[in-house]
Amino acid sequence: MNLNPQTLHVIQHPLVQHKLTLMRVKTTSTNGFRRLLNELSTLMAYEVTRDMPVQEVEIETPLETMMAPMIDGKKLVLVSILRAGGGILDGVLNVVPGARVGHIGLYRDPDTLQAVEYYFKMPSEVAERDVIVVDPMLATGNSVVAAVRRIKELKPRSIKFMCLLAAPEGVRLLQQEHPDVHIYTAAVDRELNAHGYILPGLGDAGDRIFGTK
Ligand code: URA
Repeated sequence: MNLNPQTLHVIQHPLVQHKLTLMRVKTTSTNGFRRLLNELSTLMAYEVTRDMPVQEVEIETPLETMMAPMIDGKKLVLVSILRAGGGILDGVLNVVPGARVGHIGLYRDPDTLQAVEYYFKMPSEVAERDVIVVDPMLATGNSVVAAVRRIKELKPRSIKFMCLLAAPEGVRLLQQEHPDVHIYTAAVDRELNAHGYILPGLGDAGDRIFGTK
């Protein structure tokens, strides 16, 4: 199955592309990587939230009363896949600070590369809300597929997935298992290696964010 362009959004904005290039560079420091991830996620959030519903509310300008559009940030639920999702989460919260936040902990079994859940904590009301799942890397796609399956049990109105980098293999799996989920990424790289790392990629996103190894 080829990648479906209808649900795959590659954000080509020069600021996004420039920052992604800096993040790929292996000598970029932990501090620099974290700052770039935050900035890049904030920029990408503009695109991911482009179709967010707004409602007209009455306000008073210094001169008169008017009806003006406002987002209800609380209707949005951001779900961070631990641990690397936290970097994107902070960047998105810069522009939608009222969003509710959930976390899913999944680790990748090193032999099967399958996702195993160890943590699941969601806001009390997810039903009928719009969910954006965040994780910097869409590699095999196994964790995101598992995360989306769990979140669907809570009956949200919609689910989007936002990452920095995707491998074709991960996009294909996510589109096959959850064709309704739109994917937002800054790039789709060439392929996965035998250990499930994206090539050329940027390395282990969690290690680069937290300075672990
Ligand atoms: N997770 C990462 O952090 N990097 C990859 O290349 C693949 C999965």
